[in-house]
Amino acid sequence: MATVLMIASGKGGTGKSTVATYIATELALKNKKTLLIELDAGLRSIDVISGIQQAVFDIGDVLRGRCDAYKAMSSSPQTENLSIIAAPYKSYDTDFSNFKQVTDSLYNDFDYIIIDTAAGLGNAFYAACKSAVMGIIVVTPDIISVRDGRLVSDELYNNGITDIRLIINKFSEQTFKFSGIQDLDAVIDDVCAQLLGVVPMSRQVAVNAISGSRLMQGSQEKLIFSAISDRIMGKEIQIII
Ligand SMILES: Nc1ncnc2c1ncn2[C@@H]1O[C@H](COP(=O)(O)OP(=O)(O)OP(=O)(O)O)[C@@H](O)[C@H]1O
Ligand SMILES: [Mg+2]
Repeated sequence: MATVLMIASGKGGTGKSTVATYIATELALKNKKTLLIELDAGLRSIDVISGIQQAVFDIGDVLRGRCDAYKAMSSSPQTENLSIIAAPYKSYDTDFSNFKQVTDSLYNDFDYIIIDTAAGLGNAFYAACKSAVMGIIVVTPDIISVRDGRLVSDELYNNGITDIRLIINKFSEQTFKFSGIQDLDAVIDDVCAQLLGVVPMSRQVAVNAISGSRLMQGSQEKLIFSAISDRIMGKEIQIII
């Protein structure tokens, strides 16, 4: 039976799709059968970050009844146990209201289903809330992203998701000094979610996301995503900053 997670943010571009892909990869590498679904009408990106050459069908096709979910799945070219369903491309009016039926139909076939939602509190967010048991908010360490993260946190809670976690992404000690935020504890308190991990601003993450390649074995970034996936699996692992 799958554990369904949703990745969300208030502000756009905080790194949701990147974080979702690397978490999904780490879970798959730990022999967890994992499905990553991008719910971002018209604006897909996980196909590129995951290194998939061409997604013929997408979640919009599944929701419109043009194909079943399995036909829309692509297997990761690099990672066993990882499948991906891309977001619709250039189809901005996708109706996500039947999305829960899709995750329900896949419930017995995966250990984890990760839903990468669009920024903000739109249709994708509310559709994902109906399927997910854990909400992961991705913020960058700045006051706007953190303020928006709190709105998302409250809305997750109001929509029945009580297991709310936080990833602080693109962290840089140098720029954080000028963020207007006292310390990382203040970010956690303001968003009101349990910290899963802090991911640095990283050239490796940015470059690998564009080229669709996996993070380097032994790199700090890979260790951080591995620790995040362990925490999702319920292990008590110390936070690395
Ligand atoms: N830790 C990081 N270090 C450096 N660059 C990063 C990091 N995380 C993400 N990025 C870069 O930030 C940009 C936005 O990332 P991404 O597309 O994952 O964000 P998003 O939150 O999914 O965006 P959207 O709201 O549009 O869906 C990309 O260029 C990505 O490579
Ligand atoms: Mg995205």
